[in-house]
Amino acid sequence: ISLKPYNTFGIDATAKHFISVSSLAALQKVLALPDYLEKFILGGGSNMLLTKNLEALVIHLNIKGISVVSETENTVNIKAHAGENWHEFVLWCLEHDFGGLENLSLIPGNVGTAPIQNIGAYGIELKDSFVSCEALEISTGTIKTFDKTACQFDYRNSIFKQEAKGHYVIFSVTFQLTKNNHELHTNYGAISNQLEEMSIKNPTIQDISKAVIAIRQSKLPDPKEIGNSGSFFKNPVISSEAYSILKSQFPDVPGYVISETEVKVPTGWLIEKAGFKGKRFGDYGVHKKQALVLVNYGNAKGSDILKLSELIQHTIQRLFNIQIEAEVNIL
Ligand code: EPU
Repeated sequence: ISLKPYNTFGIDATAKHFISVSSLAALQKVLALPDYLEKFILGGGSNMLLTKNLEALVIHLNIKGISVVSETENTVNIKAHAGENWHEFVLWCLEHDFGGLENLSLIPGNVGTAPIQNIGAYGIELKDSFVSCEALEISTGTIKTFDKTACQFDYRNSIFKQEAKGHYVIFSVTFQLTKNNHELHTNYGAISNQLEEMSIKNPTIQDISKAVIAIRQSKLPDPKEIGNSGSFFKNPVISSEAYSILKSQFPDVPGYVISETEVKVPTGWLIEKAGFKGKRFGDYGVHKKQALVLVNYGNAKGSDILKLSELIQHTIQRLFNIQIEAEVNIL
């Protein structure tokens, strides 16, 4: 079957075998199938670039359900299953006036894959409200709970991208959210500007979500219209010395100090400076409003987009002496 509807890049690669599972029991059954059948777990398909057809058995995780697991006077713990769409889950929380995820509005993908790369935007990361996740160990079929420490969260990273990669399937995630006295995160420049533009002085969590949605819609392409996987690359962290040298050559280069010795540089700026922003090559290219996003205008091949990403990496290395790393999983 074609995987085009199952990946936000809209790449028309195929899966030799495909099954959608909507319960834990079904997932356990499928994972217990013999090992000679290679298995590939597919969540929201929002962070991958398919460069070839998959010979594996593709298991589409479609387990749904959102429930309150416990509450205190001020907080509530919510468990959401892996197949819930991330943004719909955020909206559900906002309808119930549960705070903590509003800055992560409109991020494509599903709940189950969100912890893998510790999704983050506008000053917040998933880890800030994460409590734990339940995962099935593929080799044994047993359920394991990972708490926040066990997940080893970092910038766009977790144990599920490191040593646990390929060994577990996350089927539920529990978050701790606020019921009142919401902590608002509006210090990210784009948010405060947007709220001002909307003439909102004392924002609610719902207002913050609206601001984030407005910012994202103005910069990031909607995967339903133009195929993409959000930021294609990570923002590199370089040494303060390397940053000073860069700054002497390119005085306008932005940088966010993240420690005494390290600075994070926006890849979007580097790509724009290298002249790629808005460049289109047939059916694929670099988004015109945000250079960090590579796009598929219709029938691009994954391998074409991969080649473009490599050209960008080499150019950035040559011009700025910085190595940039893909954020998207390349298959
Ligand atoms: N910039 C440019 N040109 C561009 C794009 C960006 O010069 O075409 C520069 C500007 O100086 C801008 C700065 O980069 O001020 C930062 O841009 P922006 O605020 O859009 O954020 P980003 O660093 O490009 C990161 C995340 C996004 C997240 C935003 C907002 C990564 C890899 N990306 O992008 O996440 O939405 O911050 O918090 O960290 C994603 O991971 O898929 C994603 C979209």
